[in-house]
Amino acid sequence: MTLDVAAIRADFPILSRQVRGGNPLIYLDSGATAHKPLAVLDAEREFYLRHNAAAHRGAHLLGEEATDAYEHARSRIAAFIGADPGEIIFTRNATEAANLIAYSVSNAATGGPAGGPAAGTPAAGLAIGPDDEVLVTELEHHANLVPWQQLCQRTGARLRWFPATPDGRVDLTDIGDLVGERTRIVAVTHQSNVTGAIPPVARIAAAAHAVGAIVVVDAAQSVPHHPVAVADTGADFLFFSGHKMLAPTGIGVLWGRSELLGAMPPFITGGSMIEVVRMEGSTFLPPPQRFEAGVPAVAQAVGLAAACDYLDAVGMENVAEHERMLTGRAIEALTAVPGVRILGPLTTEDRGGAVAFEVDQVHPHDVGQVLDELGIAVRTGHHCAWPLHRALGVQASTRASFYLYNTPDEVDALADGIRTAQKFFGTP
Ligand SMILES: Cc1ncc(COP(=O)(O)O)c(C=O)c1O
Repeated sequence: MTLDVAAIRADFPILSRQVRGGNPLIYLDSGATAHKPLAVLDAEREFYLRHNAAAHRGAHLLGEEATDAYEHARSRIAAFIGADPGEIIFTRNATEAANLIAYSVSNAATGGPAGGPAAGTPAAGLAIGPDDEVLVTELEHHANLVPWQQLCQRTGARLRWFPATPDGRVDLTDIGDLVGERTRIVAVTHQSNVTGAIPPVARIAAAAHAVGAIVVVDAAQSVPHHPVAVADTGADFLFFSGHKMLAPTGIGVLWGRSELLGAMPPFITGGSMIEVVRMEGSTFLPPPQRFEAGVPAVAQAVGLAAACDYLDAVGMENVAEHERMLTGRAIEALTAVPGVRILGPLTTEDRGGAVAFEVDQVHPHDVGQVLDELGIAVRTGHHCAWPLHRALGVQASTRASFYLYNTPDEVDALADGIRTAQKFFGTP
C-alpha cells in the first residue's frame, strides 16, 4: 500500500519548520533519531498530567495507575515484536541493553553480585573465560562492539569477527572457521546503520546454536523500519532503542529468552529489583524486575507504547515498502552524481534505508555543512561504526537515512544538494 505521506507528515509538526534562512526542513537523519508524532507526545503528556507516580512503588491510586501504564507498555512492545511480556526488559537505550547482557555474563563468570539467585545456578553456563570466544562483525555499531571488547578484557575471552565485504555486507566466507566449539556469544547487527546491509542473521544464528553459542541481535535499525518477530530471527537476545522508532529518548528494549534471563545475574542493582535485603546480603526478583533497578522511565514507556500503536496503524510492511522505494530512488539519484560513491549495496535487496556515501574531494563535514545550509539534515562522521569505515577504506562518510515521513522529492533534493556542494568546492 502506498503511504499517505502528507497525512503522516501532518502528525509531525517539527517537519513543517523552515530552517537556515527559510528552507523547508528536510530531515534525513532518522537513523540517528526519529521525530515523534503528536500521538506519542500526547500520550506522554497525558501520563504526566493525570497519572504521574513511581511505578511498582506507591500503594496509592496514582501508583497503581503508573504501574498499570508501565506494564501495559511492556505488553504492547512485546506484541509489537511477537514476544512474551515477561521477556521484555526496559533499558535506557540499545547501548544499555548490550551492556546489560555483557555485564551480566561477566557477573556470571565472577559469581555476580553476591547472593543473587543466579549464584551456582545455570548462570554458570553463561560464564565465559580465557578459552572462550565472542564473535561479532566488522559492521557493528560501537554499541554492539565495545561492550563485547570490554567483556573480553574482563574475562580473558578472545574477540573475533566476520569481516566486511567491499560493498559493506557481512562476509560469511569463513563461517566454518569463525564459529566453532569455543564460540560462546555471537553478536550481530540486524541492519547496518551505515551500509543498510541486512545480514542473514537466521543463518548465522543456526551456525551459532549448532555449537551451543548464544546469539545477540542488535535490532536498533531493524525494529523501527520493518516487521520483526523475534522468533523468526533465531536470536536469544535482541535489543533496540525507542527513540529511533518515534518514541521518546530514555527508553530502550532488551528481549531475551526466558530461560536465559532467568539464569542471569543482574547488571545494575538497587531498589525495585530485590526480593529480600539484609545487611549481610540480598536476593533478587525474577526477570524482568531483576534487570530494572530504580524508578523506571514510565512516561517514556507509555510514549513507546503509543509509538507502537502509531506504527501498527500505518503498518510495518507499508513502512518497509515506502523506505525501500526511497532507498532505491536514493541509490539511483546518488550513483548518477559523478564523484559520489555509495558505501553499501547498490540494490535494495537485503538492504535497509541507510545510505552512506563519500563525495570525491569534499570532506563529509563540508558536504554536511552545505546540505545543512539548504535545510537538509544528514549525519556526517563515522556514525559510531569506525572499524567498518576503515574496512571500506574511508575515514568518514555522509549518511542519509529515511523513515515513513520522507518523500521522493526530499531524496531528489539530497542529490541536488550534493551537486551544490561539489560546485561550491569546485569539484569534480
Ligand atoms: C545499529 C545500531 N546499534 C545501536 C545503536 C545505539 O543506539 P542508542 O544510541 O540509542 O543506544 C545505534 C544508534 O545509532 C545503531 O544504529
